[in-house]
Amino acid sequence: MTKNLSDESDVRVATAPYQAEFPYERDDEAQVTRREFCNFLGLTSAALFVGATGFAAKAALDARESVSLAPARIDGAELLAPNSSLNFSYPTERDSAILIRTADGAYHAYGQKCTHLSCPVYYARDHQRLECPCHEGAFNAATGDVLYGPPPRALDAIQVEFRDGQIWAIGRTPSSPEVGG
Ligand code: FES
Repeated sequence: MTKNLSDESDVRVATAPYQAEFPYERDDEAQVTRREFCNFLGLTSAALFVGATGFAAKAALDARESVSLAPARIDGAELLAPNSSLNFSYPTERDSAILIRTADGAYHAYGQKCTHLSCPVYYARDHQRLECPCHEGAFNAATGDVLYGPPPRALDAIQVEFRDGQIWAIGRTPSSPEVGG
């Protein structure tokens, strides 16, 4: 009696008669398939990682780019004595800012909002640094970097330049996020 293969549950047995003409190792095929699948996963993961890293790098770069804004003269800045400060607004009247003339005579300007919870920072002449009264944060007057306290990043920098003996604000650079923060 001829065995009915159409109901055969064991595929190996069912395909045995054809193995001689069409050699075929299911185990080998399965291994190759797994290997290929693993390669595919590896390549896909690598591609995703590279893509995500690229986007993150671009976002970080964009965040640090200086914003080109309409120049604005800072009234009275040229009269500022060394180791003192002057408040002004830039780029709009709502954006409070602070101009520092450090003891060496150099000018530095920053957005006045503390990067912790946005309290206005002030220049502490005695310590020659910017201080925040809310939670005792402090910033370097020459760089805007955090010296101590809870602020997570530096102050926004405002670029200034001399024009015909007067000082102008010409751009603003948001501070970059703290590395790993
Ligand atoms: S708001 Fe400046 S330290 Fe908290």
